[in-house]
Amino acid sequence: MKEDLRNTKEKGHKVEEQSLRFFLDKLEDNEHLLFNIQREDYLLSAIVYELESKGKFPIVEFRHPSTGERTIANVFANRDTIKKCIFNIVDTEEKIEEFNQLDVEDDGPVQELIFKGEDLNILDLPIYKHFPGDAGRYITSGIVIAKDPDTGRHNFSFHRMQLKDRNKMGISLHSRGDLWRYYNRSKELNKNLEIAVVIGTHPAYYITGATKIPQNYDDYSWASTYMNQNAKVVKGKTVDIYVPAQAEYVIEGYISVDELEDEGPFAEYTGYGTDHSTRNVFYVTCITKREDAIYQDLVPGFAWEHLLLSQFTKEIILLDKLKKEIPEVMGLSMPKNGCHFHAYMAIDPKAEGQVKQAMMLLFGLDPYLKLIIAVNSDIDIYDEEEVIWSMATRMQADRDVFIVPKVICNSLDPSSINGMSAKMGIDATKALDWKATKIRLPEDLLEEARKMLDGEKNFGIH
Ligand SMILES: Cc1cc2nc3c(=O)[nH]c(=O)nc-3n(C[C@H](O)[C@H](O)[C@H](O)COP(=O)(O)O)c2cc1C
Repeated sequence: MKEDLRNTKEKGHKVEEQSLRFFLDKLEDNEHLLFNIQREDYLLSAIVYELESKGKFPIVEFRHPSTGERTIANVFANRDTIKKCIFNIVDTEEKIEEFNQLDVEDDGPVQELIFKGEDLNILDLPIYKHFPGDAGRYITSGIVIAKDPDTGRHNFSFHRMQLKDRNKMGISLHSRGDLWRYYNRSKELNKNLEIAVVIGTHPAYYITGATKIPQNYDDYSWASTYMNQNAKVVKGKTVDIYVPAQAEYVIEGYISVDELEDEGPFAEYTGYGTDHSTRNVFYVTCITKREDAIYQDLVPGFAWEHLLLSQFTKEIILLDKLKKEIPEVMGLSMPKNGCHFHAYMAIDPKAEGQVKQAMMLLFGLDPYLKLIIAVNSDIDIYDEEEVIWSMATRMQADRDVFIVPKVICNSLDPSSINGMSAKMGIDATKALDWKATKIRLPEDLLEEARKMLDGEKNFGIH
């Protein structure tokens, strides 16, 4: 596998440090699974889901046996792989001042080929249909770069994009984040909103696009901090937006402020197909790409990558905010089966009512959450069996549960009503006057047992 990646270099391309290729070059053989086959709808999804069911999360590549066309997917399904290329993830805000300059270049590999006017056809790109129920072929791994109409700051975000015509796509802004704000402001100004969609680039851009960055930062500085160097950019060919110079593809254009059109259904991370959409229309004015561009896909639906991409920083950032206010909070995890709606919080309270305070703060910080279970720090919040055991033995429903009805939520939750849901907090920590003693064996004995069993093949444990 490594050899195949090196072929790219032998063709004369230096592996630029801010590229997707730089990251691919760092992979071990078992982190990259190559299939020399042509593009086929659903098959990439089927392979990723099958691998996941076996607990395996390699990056999957389809390479066309004759044209060499390359698609990769599953890039963000494994925390350890992502960490190879991302810096300053815990102390981003402390470091960010060092990275507030853009390195503007005259040209970059992403503009080796330029398609405009009659030559422009997005239907030619290697874009996949992922599920039979999807309305069509979707770009799932495009980072939308837009500029705040008032401040000019760049914002990066993800949005599903449905191919409609050679220069037209449907796009949904349902998470009601910054791009949705810019679109509403553009409507007030009666001016279409320019965007540039980046596909295939350094993971720092992806992680930034999936993270809710505070409004006072330009997302380029955030991505630069994750890369530990200033972003190298080039000016878009038809839009007044800087784009990463070392990306694989950029699709330029604008979101119309006059038109809305049906979009979806699409397989969402909740595990359901949905046509819930803001129904926006994106007109493409230009495609730029490398000569041998790698297309990056993301298999959608209830797949690890779809969830982990934003979860990766969400847990870290939320925990940091919680700890700043309530130092007794010890940890935070968001289990995959909760699809962004559930959180497990570790806390060792020092006062009556503190657990409830921490849960209410967390609900306020993350509107997606519907359920928080709080446990003490002796419980492993990444081990669901322990969390549920803590609920079974430390929680009384009449005393330890609260429900707040009708709060803003993620509207992709199929059980939500008018964009609202009920929030439930469960305090499964020990009461402050707790008496029961948790049984445990001495650690040295357990260690001895481990050693004895390690050498023993006959129990069938190996
Ligand atoms: C893989 C992935 C796909 C997403 N798809 C959409 C989408 O189709 N529409 C949408 O409005 N938000 C979508 N989001 C959520 C936003 O991109 C995300 O909330 C982002 O952080 C926006 O933050 P911002 O408000 O700082 O721009 C997606 C996120 C991820 C990670």
